[in-house]
Amino acid sequence: MPAIHQPYAARAWHGHRAGRGAIAWAGAALPSLWRGRSLRWQVLATFILINLIAALATASLVLFNAKRATEAEIAASVAMAERFVRTSIDSLDRAMPGGLWLEDLPGRIGPMRHVRLLISTVGGKAIWQEHSSGGGARPHEAAAPRWFASMVHVDDLSREIPVISGGRRLGTVLVTGEPEDEIAEVWSDMADLAAVGLLVDLSVILVLYFAFGRVLTPLSALSAGLRQLEQGHFRHRLLEPKARELADLACRFNALAGSLGTAQAENIRLNHRLLTAQEDERRLIAHELHDELGPCLFGLRANMAVLNRLASDLPEEKAGRVRSRVQILSEIAGRVQTVNRRLLQRLRPIALGDVPLADLLAALVSEFEKHDDAPDIAFRPVQLADSYGDCVDLTLYRCLQEGLTNIVRHAQAKSVELRIEDGLGAVRLSLRDDGLGMAAGTPLGMGLSGMKERVHALGGSVSISAWATGGTCLEITLPAENPESRRSAIAGHEGTS
Ligand SMILES: Nc1ncnc2c1ncn2[C@@H]1O[C@H](COP(=O)(O)OP(=O)(O)OP(=O)(O)O)[C@@H](O)[C@H]1O
Ligand SMILES: [Mg+2]
Repeated sequence: MPAIHQPYAARAWHGHRAGRGAIAWAGAALPSLWRGRSLRWQVLATFILINLIAALATASLVLFNAKRATEAEIAASVAMAERFVRTSIDSLDRAMPGGLWLEDLPGRIGPMRHVRLLISTVGGKAIWQEHSSGGGARPHEAAAPRWFASMVHVDDLSREIPVISGGRRLGTVLVTGEPEDEIAEVWSDMADLAAVGLLVDLSVILVLYFAFGRVLTPLSALSAGLRQLEQGHFRHRLLEPKARELADLACRFNALAGSLGTAQAENIRLNHRLLTAQEDERRLIAHELHDELGPCLFGLRANMAVLNRLASDLPEEKAGRVRSRVQILSEIAGRVQTVNRRLLQRLRPIALGDVPLADLLAALVSEFEKHDDAPDIAFRPVQLADSYGDCVDLTLYRCLQEGLTNIVRHAQAKSVELRIEDGLGAVRLSLRDDGLGMAAGTPLGMGLSGMKERVHALGGSVSISAWATGGTCLEITLPAENPESRRSAIAGHEGTS
């Protein structure tokens, strides 16, 4: 095995490593250049790449052919010039045998295509030199750039023809091939071809760019539409594009959005029924407690009063024992009454449906303000209807109750801003406190989870966020139509029709 020269081996090894590094870099960079790009970008990039490869292949082929054609052309021109020179020498020699006509030779020969002619005496003195006539070269053709000429370059080709008259040598004609004109022709053809190709390519790229824009716009609309569905906006619909396949996609999307919307409406309706059923049950229990327990307690108290009165007819010692028992009974009755009231209040706010919603909520707020550690509560109802129906009213009431309870229990807040407003088909309740704030990731307890379930069941949303200046912000949105504005809208409609 031949010994490898060390520096060469090291260079080869480094070259090999550099090559592998470049391949690894290309392997990592190309996918990242490609991935995540728009379809339009990928198709146009592929088109441009294919065109570049085709242009490179065409240019190599044209250069190869041009080199061969130029070699053949120059060889033919030199051979033809040689024949012509020899014929001219023979004809002059025949006309003036043994004469000194070397000076007349240029007049016979004249300039020739693709060759340079040099006539010199025997002593080597040049008496005439003529460059190529340019032959078929087109007048507008400029000389080819040097890099191109060096690529098409053909080897020098020349012939030395002795000029002999009457057996005596008069001088020499040197015929040398001059490929510059031929190369300029090839260069001009290639430049024209490249300009046409570039123009065609640019036009195709422009057409593709706009065509893809038209094709992809509906796909972008579809993607935006799917995002809307993801966010629960099932009323979103797509316009039908003109292309059949895309129109089919848009149709399917619209049908899907319709079905999702129906399913959501059905879900809300069922949840609404569930809530209503729950509230009906609570109301029934509240009435039972109120109507049954209330009179019973009243009867108990009345009978205890009678017992007290009867005890006064008994001897002092027996009367005292009876009165102490009556006292115990009275305390038990009192406790039952308190528990009953609290139960009634929790089952259903007594005034619900009897007083305007804003007053009912204001009463709840005043109730909280009575707590020793209660914060200041600024309450601002805006354009609230008297009622939005039992379900919505009660949900607002319960959410506010839980929100305020949480503030008193967990926030240590100094002030609270409560805002309830009606607009755009929804009632919005926001409760902002300046307390400790809710740490990120705090697990929800029964209170907030129950609140979310209730609100979602009515198709609304709950958001709990950290308030910029500290504290917590609870926001609830419930879809609800203001019955008063609906009534006035119907009245207005009837008035105009
Ligand atoms: N306004 C608030 N400020 C600070 N922390 C709060 C606030 N509201 C709720 N939290 C935190 O969120 C947690 C969950 O509240 P959630 O109402 O679900 O449960 P809870 O109040 O602990 O119990 P309950 O089920 O009796 O309501 C609370 O334990 C508390 O840590
Ligand atoms: Mg709570």
